[in-house]
Amino acid sequence: MASEIPVQELAQKSEDEVRERLAAGKLVEGLAHMSPQYLLGIRRILTVSADTELVSAPAYLRAAQHAPALNNFGSAVSIVQDELAHAHIGYRLLGDLGVDMNELIYERDPLAFKYPYAFDVPLDSWYELVLANALYDQAGFVLLSDVHRSSTFGPWKRALAKVDKEETFHLRHGRTWVRKLCADPGDKRALQASLNWMFMLTLEWFGLPDERKLHGIQLEYGFKGMGNDELRQAWMAEVVPFIDEVGLSVPAHFDAEQQRYVIDCPFPAAFDAERKQWLLDEGTISWDEVIVRWKGRGPMNREYVSRLQRGYRSRLEVAA
Ligand SMILES: [Fe+2]
Ligand SMILES: [Fe+2]
Repeated sequence: MASEIPVQELAQKSEDEVRERLAAGKLVEGLAHMSPQYLLGIRRILTVSADTELVSAPAYLRAAQHAPALNNFGSAVSIVQDELAHAHIGYRLLGDLGVDMNELIYERDPLAFKYPYAFDVPLDSWYELVLANALYDQAGFVLLSDVHRSSTFGPWKRALAKVDKEETFHLRHGRTWVRKLCADPGDKRALQASLNWMFMLTLEWFGLPDERKLHGIQLEYGFKGMGNDELRQAWMAEVVPFIDEVGLSVPAHFDAEQQRYVIDCPFPAAFDAERKQWLLDEGTISWDEVIVRWKGRGPMNREYVSRLQRGYRSRLEVAA
């Protein structure tokens, strides 16, 4: 990650002092309250969040060109504008935490961006845009609501009150359109075809199962309140009943005995990104194999990031 001054010099407290502050019920307001571990942890989660918001803008803009009418295009573009503002909040906070914002946003290699793999797969229709609002924005909402509740970093916690309201608008946009399109058999078939690849990619969004979880410190320092599996359950609890209600289908159901949602197909599974198809016949694969796919990134990674970086680079060339 881009940083000019080492974290040991920026973060002014010890780990014990941070724990004491948190135990006293106080929030962390800036570098003066952070330990090196806290600083690295909050930078990591802010980067994932800001990268996700940022890349959703070119992904949604690409799909917005399929808007059925001009006013629908306007709604989609206003969502894109919200996402850019959300990204700006995250990067601006990272700037306050000693990160070189220009380097982070405009000079970073596309492969080093930390957004969920789902955004690397192109959204090619209005169906896919509104499903992304209903599924991906719901995932964002579940994750950010958890941060809003449990975060110990005051400036982000307060900023998320506004972000949460806007995400509610995005997912309402998605649901309203999905309901409307489901009234027409042809539109409904098209939605189902897109849902078939998009649902499981969103399940993956929440990351490795809790027993495989890499960043325990996220829970300890209150960067997150819920574990990955709980978040995945919380997302399914919103999405699966809605999908049932509109008469579409997904491979998951609520199991009354276990009191939790159960996934009814191999998961995690291999995915053919070019054909947008799950290779379910191959059965369940390991998370290590999923990580290889995530790290290699998908078809749109380079194009989306270079699109976001283009203006900055061409301005530098003119100035040189
Ligand atoms: Fe957002
Ligand atoms: Fe959103």
